[in-house]
Amino acid sequence: MTDRYAVFGNPIAHSLSPLIHRLFAQQTGQDLCYEAILAPLDAFAATVARFIAEGGRGANVTVPFKEEAFRLCDETSPRARLAQAVNTLVFNDGRIYGDNTDGIGLVRDLKHNLAATIAGQHVLLLGAGGAARGVIGPLLAEKPAELFIANRTASRAEHLAAQFGGVCRGGSFAALAGRRFSLVLNATSAGLINSPLPLPDDIFAPDVLAYEMVYGRTTPFMQRAQAAGCRVSDGLGMLVEQAAEAFFLWRGVRPETAPVLAALRSHTQSAHQGASGVNS
Ligand code: ATR
Repeated sequence: MTDRYAVFGNPIAHSLSPLIHRLFAQQTGQDLCYEAILAPLDAFAATVARFIAEGGRGANVTVPFKEEAFRLCDETSPRARLAQAVNTLVFNDGRIYGDNTDGIGLVRDLKHNLAATIAGQHVLLLGAGGAARGVIGPLLAEKPAELFIANRTASRAEHLAAQFGGVCRGGSFAALAGRRFSLVLNATSAGLINSPLPLPDDIFAPDVLAYEMVYGRTTPFMQRAQAAGCRVSDGLGMLVEQAAEAFFLWRGVRPETAPVLAALRSHTQSAHQGASGVNS
């Protein structure tokens, strides 16, 4: 029998995950189907329970249910506990196991697809919400010289930095004046509402990789970085890499991501104009 998987979110209609997992399944010869399921805002747990009762083997979870999914699990991975959020569920023998593949997805996109170095570098993370929290642990595991978290509400960034400790620092956007970083990661949701971030000009220099965790649109952050001559990436590669890690958890097979990312790039540029989103 074909194994069933799904992604739960609200909204979910424009999710690219069913297409990504269909391409992974074709490529690896795995017999599975994967659907997008709209969970009512007040009935996430019941919607997951129904899917399990119908024979579902695993699922992805997206906005706004990742923290609720974490609380639903019987067992979680260390990286899910660091993130306090879960984007991948595995259903086995009546138990729910939760993992978080977002951070490793970002790190893989940076290192393997964009040939970026994190070790020994000064890294700037913009934002202190769920998207930022989800990637801090895996970024720190790469041993940057510094991970500075900057946020509109500085206290949230300071709090997050204090929780992770080590080379993490936190502060306001204004505190970035005069500072230089080789990697600037935008984990705010400002791009989804076309809002620019009040960052000092020094942050954008030609040797900087400016990475936007939103995909499917060119945000004001990307426009500003492009105009300053930075190397710029959106978050589509992260979306594909986090999916590949989830696929590996479920099936024990690691799909090739490059052809799937290439297929998605042409897909998002043509047919599926509505498919923008944020890796959070
Ligand atoms: P997510 O799960 O997507 O991270 P979130 O927890 O609501 O969502 O966090 C959104 C992040 O984007 C926060 O860091 C938020 O800054 P505040 O903590 O100051 O609210 C940031 N953000 C959203 N809109 C923004 C804007 N217009 N300018 C600057 N930062 C913004």
